[in-house]
Amino acid sequence: MQNPIPALGRSIHAQRTLDPYRPRYHFTAPANWLNDPNGLIDWKGTIHLFYQYNPNGPFHGTIHWGHASSVDLVHWRDHPIALAPTPGGPDADGCWSGCAVDDRGAPTLLYTGVSPQAVCLAVGDETLETWRKYEGNPVIPAPPSEIAAVCGGDFRDPYVWREDDAWWMVIGSRREGVGGLVLLYRSVDLRHWEFVRILLAGDEESSRYFYEGAMWECPNLLDFGDRRTLILSVQDAQVRLHHAAYFTGLYRNQEFKPVAGDVLAHGDSFYAPQATRLSDGRYLLFGWLRETRPHEAAMAAGWSGCMSLPLIVTLREDGRLALAPAPELEALRGEAWSLSDLPLGPHTIQRLDVAGEALEIEIAFVPDRADAFGVAVRCSPDGEEQTRIVIRPRQNELYVERLEAGVAVTPTASMPLTPATPLVLRIFVDASTLEIFSEDGRYLATRLYPRRSDSASVHLFTTGAAVNVQRLTVWRLASIWQ
Ligand code: FRU
Repeated sequence: MQNPIPALGRSIHAQRTLDPYRPRYHFTAPANWLNDPNGLIDWKGTIHLFYQYNPNGPFHGTIHWGHASSVDLVHWRDHPIALAPTPGGPDADGCWSGCAVDDRGAPTLLYTGVSPQAVCLAVGDETLETWRKYEGNPVIPAPPSEIAAVCGGDFRDPYVWREDDAWWMVIGSRREGVGGLVLLYRSVDLRHWEFVRILLAGDEESSRYFYEGAMWECPNLLDFGDRRTLILSVQDAQVRLHHAAYFTGLYRNQEFKPVAGDVLAHGDSFYAPQATRLSDGRYLLFGWLRETRPHEAAMAAGWSGCMSLPLIVTLREDGRLALAPAPELEALRGEAWSLSDLPLGPHTIQRLDVAGEALEIEIAFVPDRADAFGVAVRCSPDGEEQTRIVIRPRQNELYVERLEAGVAVTPTASMPLTPATPLVLRIFVDASTLEIFSEDGRYLATRLYPRRSDSASVHLFTTGAAVNVQRLTVWRLASIWQ
């Protein structure tokens, strides 16, 4: 297959660093539109990350698979486009999301061809740069007829793994007016698939663990030994993207029984994550951080969307998934600024002598009956612009509020917090991205678009009563594109 864009040169990296909203240490596409991570795979020690990509502009359309790789999980090398729609083929209207597997030494992609939505297969060479689409595509032309009758054409995002001498696939769908579906398939050769059963059916009315919505996209089944976790991305009946969420449960005889569940990522930006098992046994996960600025602003900027930080996923005893930034990110730490044992009285604003658009902040607070306290980032000197991470210990809640050019930007993002002394947070600021981790694995991702170039400093603040800052370190993080 010929590659529709030429090899990507240095000028791409220059573009990546000139735009003030362009993340410095998150993966972004060379230009144009990016959505879901796809085909994430550790191939002989190199991590390959494919992604939903529109080479024709910063909007969703003519979806290809972009491709990048990394040997350290932090720095990325661009590769030519991996998959492009074939005119007249089953993916003529787009190569939508899917996964990568190692088929006895042959890198193999299973992805969604559109339209109608169907499962297609492509086999790669040793470099994972050249992909040959299987002549027999689509390998699954449609869901079983009883589901085809009720799914409104929604049948996408295969996620495949090997177990008990067979290949297994989960794929997203829905029952119109009822809720999302995850379907389970089995194959011996990745080319012939047999429908096994509906693995899980959702209920649009249910918010038992999270709002379940109308359609389940991008299912992933993670294996934690005696328990498994089914990750989903939830769309509502109006095709609005809600959240990535999961059920934890038991998986026996190809049946999945959820016993717990939760939202995976809080905030308004993170969606459609994909996880893969690294050769060292860890589960690595990326999500798409979508823009929350107006469409016209992305069109003017010439790019839209970036990947989350590389996240390591573990399962806690209580069934909750914990997300943490990959420790490899510590390699980006540069100049550090720290303090310890700083008492902050009520109604205080403490300006720190540190500023930057690409920072990591680690902070341990001892709340002393404080009403609310927290950290403000990307603050202008007069405070007209700032993004406040507010902790409300009595409500066991953290929320983010943005002030841009003196105007509050809604909606705000929030996440629950487990009471802890000290309360430890890690905060990653990178141009227009903000990600926050609690020590027990809760995660929030949102976007911010300060208008002023001097909106770069960090403040601590309290309202009501006092707080002790046990320790605080702020690191400048290096760009990954130099
Ligand atoms: C999720 C999603 C997938 C689909 C892809 C299309 O964001 O809608 O369900 O395969 O994006 O780009």
